[in-house]
Amino acid sequence: KEIYQEIEQFNVASKDQLEQFRLRFVGRKGVITELFEGLKNVPQEDRRAVGQELNGLKNFALERFEAFTRTIDEQQSAADSTPPVDLTLPTVPNLTGTQHPLTLVRQRIIQIFERIGFNVADGPEIETDWYNFGALNFPDNHPARDMQDTFFVEKKSATGQDSADDVLLRTHTSNVQIRLMERHSKADTFRPIRSIMPGRVYRNETISARAHCLFHQVEGLYIDRNVGFKDLKDTLYHFVKEMFNKDTRIRFRPSYFPFTEPSAEIDISCQICGGSGCNICKHSGWVEIAGSGMVDPQVLANCGIDPEEYTGFAFGMGVERITQLKYVVNDLRLYTENDVRFLRQFEGL
Ligand code: PHE
Repeated sequence: KEIYQEIEQFNVASKDQLEQFRLRFVGRKGVITELFEGLKNVPQEDRRAVGQELNGLKNFALERFEAFTRTIDEQQSAADSTPPVDLTLPTVPNLTGTQHPLTLVRQRIIQIFERIGFNVADGPEIETDWYNFGALNFPDNHPARDMQDTFFVEKKSATGQDSADDVLLRTHTSNVQIRLMERHSKADTFRPIRSIMPGRVYRNETISARAHCLFHQVEGLYIDRNVGFKDLKDTLYHFVKEMFNKDTRIRFRPSYFPFTEPSAEIDISCQICGGSGCNICKHSGWVEIAGSGMVDPQVLANCGIDPEEYTGFAFGMGVERITQLKYVVNDLRLYTENDVRFLRQFEGL
């Protein structure tokens, strides 16, 4: 009876336990064999009944043993059929995402100028003709106002109303210059302006490797007493050496903008070929990165600042172009196509 109970309670979950079961109940040195050996001491007349009893017990133990053996075998073969873990395989990549190259470069530009005392100013992307063109001295018939360059949102002149009120997508961030100067000139005491203006701008251009209808500029404006062309040169020399490297050469080329006088375009030695000639610099060794100049006295006056007392310089650069030179990006369209093979190259920068 006790052994029946013991067998029933014996739980077999592993090969080791199966072996223990065998040794205790089934093996030649197990309890049941022992009981069979004791049979010879049982009186003759009882021997038959006890023998039958013991046979029943033995069969019960054997049945249990076989059942346990089957389940343990099944477990074993299930474990064998799961593929082995290859510990040398690379892990599932942890895709963390990355900042867009234009963001990286914009942040670097801001950092360089903030360290020399410029703050960041912002303004609207949907602008009136006055802030985008008029206040900046663009004559009424200037080609930049043309439908071909500018995305108009509302063209009042076409309806015969006040032509100064056309609404458009800004073609440069110079509108923020005007808004800044206006605001400062209206304050009780005029405080100097030393700001940069990063932002999106729009021009109606056919999209190609070299042009896009949407791009990014960072403009700068510095207005104070006694600001001269040397300050403009100093500032931009400093910027170029910080953004690129100490050996980058810089060239100021006379140019024209309606809102600056004198004006200069800024070229740097080509970062791609080092000056030996490539497609980016059209084999000249130089690439244009910015426009600049002394703010035209008329523009200061348009904004209520006395040009007799204050002078200033302004500059404007394209973030796409700077990024192209810094990271050798040969097609502008890569910036907006969201191809992860392109974007991943900027991981960790
Ligand atoms: N606004 C000019 C452009 O978009 C750049 C510029 C800014 C030139 C400031 C001179 C001074 O092309």
